[in-house]
Amino acid sequence: MQVLGIKTDLIKPGDDLADKLEKAMNDADLALQDGDILVVSESTLATAEGRLVYLEDVEPSPMARLMAERYEKDPREMQLILEESDQIVGGIPGVVLTLREGFLYPNAGIDNSNAPPGSVVLFPSHPLASARQIRERLGKGRNIAVIIGDSRTHPLRLGCVGVALACAGLDAVEDARGQRDLFGRELKITRKAVADNLVSAAQIVMGEGDEGIPAAIIRDAPLRLSESAEPIPSIPPQDCMYMGALGCGSSPRPYAGGYDALIEQAKEAMKGAYAPYSGFKVGAALLGRSGRIYGAGNIENAASGAGICAERAALARAVASGEKEFLAVAVVGTSDKPVSPCGLCRQSLMEFGEDITVIMSNSAGEAMVAKLSDLLPAAFTGRCINHI
Ligand code: THU
Repeated sequence: MQVLGIKTDLIKPGDDLADKLEKAMNDADLALQDGDILVVSESTLATAEGRLVYLEDVEPSPMARLMAERYEKDPREMQLILEESDQIVGGIPGVVLTLREGFLYPNAGIDNSNAPPGSVVLFPSHPLASARQIRERLGKGRNIAVIIGDSRTHPLRLGCVGVALACAGLDAVEDARGQRDLFGRELKITRKAVADNLVSAAQIVMGEGDEGIPAAIIRDAPLRLSESAEPIPSIPPQDCMYMGALGCGSSPRPYAGGYDALIEQAKEAMKGAYAPYSGFKVGAALLGRSGRIYGAGNIENAASGAGICAERAALARAVASGEKEFLAVAVVGTSDKPVSPCGLCRQSLMEFGEDITVIMSNSAGEAMVAKLSDLLPAAFTGRCINHI
């Protein structure tokens, strides 16, 4: 098997990538042959697609500023992450882990490397359509495959490996179940990420820095090409070992959006309120440091003092799930006036962060926003007790 790098000029927004690759191959006396697999880097594709954004053109929302502060990121980049991802699963300083169309990406696939100063490259908008198109344009009747390649780390492993974002002309995953191992045992769960492995091979020659090699031809791979041009298969979060083990496989739902998204989640939580005595239903959605959201409604009682507000019910869920730091809470009720947390709830929340952003919303979704420390000034906290 051979891996032949294709060196090109710098690819710019609006460039016809297939054309550029063809020219570069001609210059290098490289011609595609039947059975060749062309791997193209996703950041090059995204740049050609015009997915370059200058950060000075981005206006961060209040929620983006809040999340940026907590994850130690540029608020403008955080704004793009919120826009580009379906969910934020969690994060560490500098990186948030996001879900986009069923796959995990650091920072929603937004890249600062290989982008002009002051700009970032977003994830390509249509990697599969581009893979199909490049295959058609460059194949010219020859049987070739095209893979759009990216790189990724695996949990606890240092360094990136190749991963395919889209693949045309090849089955991205080969089902090896039913084959036999060296001792004749039947393989039960083995599937081969063929396209990912090919991207890793290509990256040996493509590099990730200033090499200027955004594509590579893989020749004589012991594989059979196909007509397949389907999205890369994924597994649902609840069946994923990593997501399941980290408690991200199912509810509580990860955060996805700005204040409005949190208010929506509070409204959702309000559906579970039990308020037969006052008839006043309240919902609270508490955004944890992990990026997950814990929702609850108020729970009343015939003995009125035994009731619990939505905020404290949500807090109980969250703390019982191991979450002890919070970024924000949205509270919504069946009233025209925004629901403001009662004194007891303010005190309970204060225990877990004086900086919590409190989003007080009415049934129409209009909101007042305040910091918890402004709602409960000079609060009594653990610091007031000498020995803590
Ligand atoms: N309530 C809350 O759940 N949260 C608030 O912030 C204000 C009040 C509930 C408690 C009670 O079940 C009902 O609203 C009426 O007081």
